[in-house]
Amino acid sequence: MVDISESKNFKEASAECDDIVDPWIVSSTSDNGVNYEKLIERFGCSHIDDELIERLEKVAGRPVHALIRRKIFFSHRDLHTLLKAVESGKKFYLYTGRGPSSDSMHLGHLIPFIVTKWLQETFDVPLVIQLTDDEKTLWKNLTVEQSMKMARENAKDIIAMGFDIDKTFIFSNLDFMGRCSAFYQNIIRIQKCVTFNQVKGIFGFGDSDIIGKIGFPAAQAAPAFSTTFPFIFGKDKLPVLIPCAIDQDPYFRMTRDVSPRLGFPKPALIHSSFFPALQGAKTKMSASDANSAIFLTDTPKQIKTKINKHAFSGGKQTLEEHREFGGNTDVDVSFQLLRFFLYDDDELERIRVAYTKGELLSGEIKKIAIDTLQPIVSDHQAKRKEVTDEILEKFMTPRKLNYDLIIKISK
Ligand code: TYM
Repeated sequence: MVDISESKNFKEASAECDDIVDPWIVSSTSDNGVNYEKLIERFGCSHIDDELIERLEKVAGRPVHALIRRKIFFSHRDLHTLLKAVESGKKFYLYTGRGPSSDSMHLGHLIPFIVTKWLQETFDVPLVIQLTDDEKTLWKNLTVEQSMKMARENAKDIIAMGFDIDKTFIFSNLDFMGRCSAFYQNIIRIQKCVTFNQVKGIFGFGDSDIIGKIGFPAAQAAPAFSTTFPFIFGKDKLPVLIPCAIDQDPYFRMTRDVSPRLGFPKPALIHSSFFPALQGAKTKMSASDANSAIFLTDTPKQIKTKINKHAFSGGKQTLEEHREFGGNTDVDVSFQLLRFFLYDDDELERIRVAYTKGELLSGEIKKIAIDTLQPIVSDHQAKRKEVTDEILEKFMTPRKLNYDLIIKISK
């Protein structure tokens, strides 16, 4: 059975801390949101520090994406090992995913995909994107058919972000399972390595949970093993890098524990922090609460109304107090939205200073957030319109990907 050194008892560890972070719930008692320092300690992952960023830039030969530079991606597992492999000319691939629980994705879902795109462009590597429509059928009140339909809708949103069609394979579990026996074979290999007690410890499953949930983690683990995609990688056992928000880490702690037994390198991960709910950082932006989220289908007017009405303000109660004491950008959701989506560092700093000094008012920072996000969402909608069913079909067809076999490293 697996050594559960990394996937130590998740339920117990969660109980010791005020924050709950798992694949289903993100909640904190603090207005500042999840304490990521404590989370790193609890999960046993590592900081993405200045030294690692410098190393990544050196290997990449270009500055890192703002989401990494700003340490919104704050934690990793084995990124040093992966970079070492890249430096010695080894190939790797990228793996990320989405659980289709709504017809439209929201801005928070974009975060791991933005960095995944940066990594694909930078390293010229293949990418596999898993849509866990099976997971959403099992966890939500959705039929198989509804989840599969949502997977296709979400895939269009992902494609609209500009992933390279020659280097990207997108698959829905409920569809791909019937097309590729290697996927199911790897799921079974993984399921043979993990006991019920272990998944209970990692995910908190109980005796009355349906059996589909208990087996599902193996389906999210399998794409971290390159032999799941024989039409792309043949029999090669390639290293993988998985960008995701930290809520997905339990799946990959389990995967990393299983990897050596199946003769694979442990997957490397980079973890993002959470794009907050509009109501504040106590919880993440989530598709299950429509008022907490800005969806990629929202109109400019809806974005304006949602931010004006719901975005938690770090400003003071009265104008006089705000002018005198200034606002708190740590809890102000409009400022937090800008941290994730306004990539001009000087402009962001100007806004931070002006708001903190009370020169910029709550309504004004909300307007800046609205003006920043409206064109991003509108541009996305225009690009999504161009994603035809033919394009979708091509992305979702198992096929050989066309990528450079040699990693280009700048010295
Ligand atoms: P899902 O659909 O909940 O989320 C998709 C991706 O978005 C991240 N995420 C967020 N990131 C920042 N701020 C937020 N508010 C926010 N909400 C969600 C998630 O961490 C995830 O990276 N089981 C997965 C699907 C999946 C997957 C994977 C994800 C399958 N294989 C491999 C990452 C890597 C899910 O339901 O994600």
